[in-house]
Amino acid sequence: MNPPRNINFRRVSFTAAVIAMAAAIAGCASNGPYPLDTLSPKSDLTRAILSLFKEVTILDSLVLVVVIVAMFAAIFIYSSREGDPGEPSAMHSDVTLEMLWTVIPAVILVAITVPTVHTIIRTQPDKWPADTLEVKVIAHQWWWEFKYPSLGVQTADEVHIPSGRSIHFAMTSEDVIHSFFMPSIGGKRDVVPGQENQITLVADTPGEYYGQCTEFCGTSHANMRFRVFVDNPAAFDQWVAHQNETPIKPTEGPAAAGAKIWADAPCAICHTIKGVSGFSKDYTYGFRGPDLTHFGSRGTMAGSMLENTPENVALWIKDPDAVKPGANMPTLGLDDEELSNLVAYLESLK
Ligand code: CUA
Repeated sequence: MNPPRNINFRRVSFTAAVIAMAAAIAGCASNGPYPLDTLSPKSDLTRAILSLFKEVTILDSLVLVVVIVAMFAAIFIYSSREGDPGEPSAMHSDVTLEMLWTVIPAVILVAITVPTVHTIIRTQPDKWPADTLEVKVIAHQWWWEFKYPSLGVQTADEVHIPSGRSIHFAMTSEDVIHSFFMPSIGGKRDVVPGQENQITLVADTPGEYYGQCTEFCGTSHANMRFRVFVDNPAAFDQWVAHQNETPIKPTEGPAAAGAKIWADAPCAICHTIKGVSGFSKDYTYGFRGPDLTHFGSRGTMAGSMLENTPENVALWIKDPDAVKPGANMPTLGLDDEELSNLVAYLESLK
């Protein structure tokens, strides 16, 4: 019987290596508007992170090329051949080589560490500009609460920030560990109960951006999303002024009937509507459910999982657990007319 031919083994391993590398490169490609794309920075923080990522990737790619070339050279050029006389050569010690393979990796590690530490320090300053806007982020299973202490505003699942101004996110959790991830705007930071973590940044491009909790936090972890709206300063001031208004109380029609249902049902135990219901006058920390004062003006709902439409609000109130498994929101047992009136009231809260 003939021995297996070496040429087949070589061809197969070379082809496999090419396919694996092509697949790896294709997986990294960024084509099109993926909402959680980390390669489309829209703030000083994410630009600094991306530029560090590029530097390290280029350096790593060079190392990869050198290692692969050396490996293939060792396999195909410097290896012993079938039929070579005597034992394969063995080398016991070479001081020059040992110095080289100690010094070169040390230099590479320094080349990666210095810009990394520099970026960490730059993106987590101890002090920030005097006109910085503070936004408190409070994570709940499974929604996000946002408070603006200097503006008297609080909202849920959708955070607005002005472009071109330093923003300081101070974040903590009401229950378990979450992670605040808004790839285009602010990188990622763990949100931990009993502790306040920080992100400081300047967003530069007005638009709507996606965010997502990225630390497993229970049944509906994947349903704990949010949106970041970067507004130009005039639009942001307008938004703040609107948020500070008390919503108009409906006096007739389904919305007025819905307001009555709101007052009678247990909604107000967990949700605040400014001027209508709420735990405390100063809207302090610790509501179980989102502030609904301007619910009707939000584009999304239920942890930003659903578009805010009357159909979706009805779906949510009817069976919250079907939309967001494990949610604290109870089923109210309303009939169809009561449900549609309550939805009309909530949507009237512009
Ligand atoms: Cu919150 Cu995962």
